[in-house]
Amino acid sequence: MAILVFPGKGGTGKTTLSALTVKYFAEKGEITLALDFDPDSHLHKLLGLPLKKTVGQVVDRVHKEKKAELEPKKPLDVSDHEYFLSLIAKDVFVEGEKFDILTLGKPSIDIDCYCPVFIWAEYAINQIMRSYGMPYKHIVVDCDPGTEIFPRKILDHIAQNRGIDYILVVLDGSRMSLDTAKDIIREAKSRNLKVRRIYGIGNRVDNEEIQKQFIEVAKKNYEIEIIGFIPTDQEISKRSLLNQNILDIPNSPAYQAIKNILTKLKI
Ligand SMILES: Nc1ncnc2c1ncn2[C@@H]1O[C@H](COP(=O)(O)OP(=O)(O)O)[C@@H](O)[C@H]1O
Ligand SMILES: [Mg+2]
Repeated sequence: MAILVFPGKGGTGKTTLSALTVKYFAEKGEITLALDFDPDSHLHKLLGLPLKKTVGQVVDRVHKEKKAELEPKKPLDVSDHEYFLSLIAKDVFVEGEKFDILTLGKPSIDIDCYCPVFIWAEYAINQIMRSYGMPYKHIVVDCDPGTEIFPRKILDHIAQNRGIDYILVVLDGSRMSLDTAKDIIREAKSRNLKVRRIYGIGNRVDNEEIQKQFIEVAKKNYEIEIIGFIPTDQEISKRSLLNQNILDIPNSPAYQAIKNILTKLKI
């Protein structure tokens, strides 16, 4: 089993690499739970699954119907829990053939804090794992941009006692993406999140000379080891434009590259 987390700066390729990873596991016949933590919620499209509702929309609905207090620290009423879970199972959780997906989304109601979505999502994930008897061989987390995910403790819950196997920070070859990576690593460490290894992945850094420089800068100035590079892939661009999933892409360059990285990590 592997728990893989893909954080990074916005637009670096987190969702694309998460989806290609899920595809790889599916081809090996290994069942994955895909978690889309980005409020923009695109992962389901790349995986060819419909988006029913997001956890955020369910939070909205429960809020409206039950007029629940959504203060982060308030313990939820048991009947709220049951009702909420029934909605998650029916409206949010989407089961595919070789993977399932849970999409967090964002609440549309006028609350300042995104915390309730995470609290309810955390609860839902725990219940899913418990009630399904943890059927998943892998968990893949497509993060929101930046470091937001770390203070929310949801990763601690997902990792439970075993810890996260790999945080694979997605980088686009820019200094900005390295700065974000540095913040991500600092957050992960300062919060004592149990992680086996953290690596950087360079996405769309195609020039070999620049790749070498990037590896150097990442190592020297940021203490980040680059585990590999994913090339710009026309097939990915085309599918993104046409809003098509990536499940049946042939052995295209980006897919081959992510497979090489996962093999290197012995996953
Ligand atoms: N290796 C790649 N080759 C071609 N296009 C890519 C590649 N990686 C990402 N993209 C494109 O870049 C855009 C941003 O990627 P995405 O995975 O959504 O980033 P993020 O989730 O980090 O915001 C998308 O349109 C995606 O199709
Ligand atoms: Mg994304």
